[in-house]
Amino acid sequence: MKVLLVGAGGQLAQHLIPNFPHLVALTRHQLDLTDRAQVTGALRHHRPDCVINAAAYTAVDLAEEQRDQAFATNADAPAALAQECQKSSTPLVHFSTDYVFPGGGSRPWKETDACSPINQYGASKWAGEEHVRRECEQHLILRVSWLFGAFGQNFVKTILRLAGEREQLRVVSDQQGCPTWCGHLSPVVQGLLESRRWGTYHYCDAPASNWWEFARTVVDQAVELGWPLKAREVIPISTADFPTKALRPTFSVLDCTRLAELGIFQSDWCEGLERTLRELGRP
Ligand SMILES: NC(=O)c1ccc[n+]([C@@H]2O[C@H](COP(=O)([O-])OP(=O)(O)OC[C@H]3O[C@@H](n4cnc5c(N)ncnc54)[C@H](OP(=O)(O)O)[C@@H]3O)[C@@H](O)[C@H]2O)c1
Repeated sequence: MKVLLVGAGGQLAQHLIPNFPHLVALTRHQLDLTDRAQVTGALRHHRPDCVINAAAYTAVDLAEEQRDQAFATNADAPAALAQECQKSSTPLVHFSTDYVFPGGGSRPWKETDACSPINQYGASKWAGEEHVRRECEQHLILRVSWLFGAFGQNFVKTILRLAGEREQLRVVSDQQGCPTWCGHLSPVVQGLLESRRWGTYHYCDAPASNWWEFARTVVDQAVELGWPLKAREVIPISTADFPTKALRPTFSVLDCTRLAELGIFQSDWCEGLERTLRELGRP
C-alpha cells in the first residue's frame, strides 16, 4: 500500500515514517496544505492508496490570537484534502484531539459523546473533523491525546529542560488525561486501515493521569536512567495558579472501547516514556 504522509515534519509523523514501507512523506515545505493547487497536484502526481494527514496547527495558546491560521490548517486544509481524496476514492486518515471535548465529568469520553470545544484550537480541530466526515466516505478520524516522543516539541521535553535548570517544578494536577507515546500509533493506524472500518475512533495510552503526575514520572524515570537533573521536587498546583490564554478541559480521558472491539488495545505510556528517554540519550 502506497501511503502519502502530509505534515511529515511533525512529531507524530516522524514516528510513523519508519513503520510504513511504501511511504511518500511530504513536509510543509514540500506540500503546504493550505494551498489547494498543491494538494490537488500532490494527489495526482503520487496516486497514493491512502493519505495520512499528520499536519496541524498545534499551538494551543497562540490559537486564541491566531484563530484564522488555526482554522486554515486544522479545518479548511483537511476539507480540501478530504475532497481530493473523495474524487480519487482514496482513504484518508486524519488525526484529531481530546480537546474537541469540553472536559468536566469523570467518565471517559466516547466517540458518540457531543463535542463542544472550549478553546480555538479544539474548535478548529472539530471543524476539521466535520469536514472530513462530510467530504470523504473512506475516512478514519483518530482522536489522540497528550502526545510525546523524542521528536519535536512536547511536554516531556519541556519538563526535562526545566528539570535541568530548576530545583523545583510546579505543575498543574487538576487536569486529567492520557499521555500517549507517538510510537504506539503506527500499529493503531495500520490495524484500522486493514480493518477498513471507516469512522471516528479514540486512541490514547493508559493509564489515565494528570500533568503533575506525568511530570513527576518524567523526572523520576530520567533520574533513574542517570540524567543529571537539578529538580528535587515537583509540586502540584491548580489550573487557577497557572493561567493560560486557552482554557483546557479538566477531564479529557478518551474511552478506547471502540478500538478494543477491533482488537486494537491501549499501550502503557510509561513504557513509551522510557523508550523516549533512551532515544533522547542522557545529556
Ligand atoms: N501534540 C499533541 O499533544 C496532540 C494532542 C492531541 C492531538 N494531536 C493531533 O495529532 C496530530 C499530530 O500532532 P503533532 O503533535 O505531531 O503536531 P506537530 O509536531 O506540531 O506537527 C504538525 C506538523 O504540521 C505541519 N504543518 C502545519 N501547517 C501545515 C500546512 N499548512 N501544510 C503542511 N504541513 C503543515 C507543521 O509544519 P511546521 O513544523 O513547518 O510548522 C508540523 O510539521 C495533529 O492532528 C494534532 O492536532 C496532537
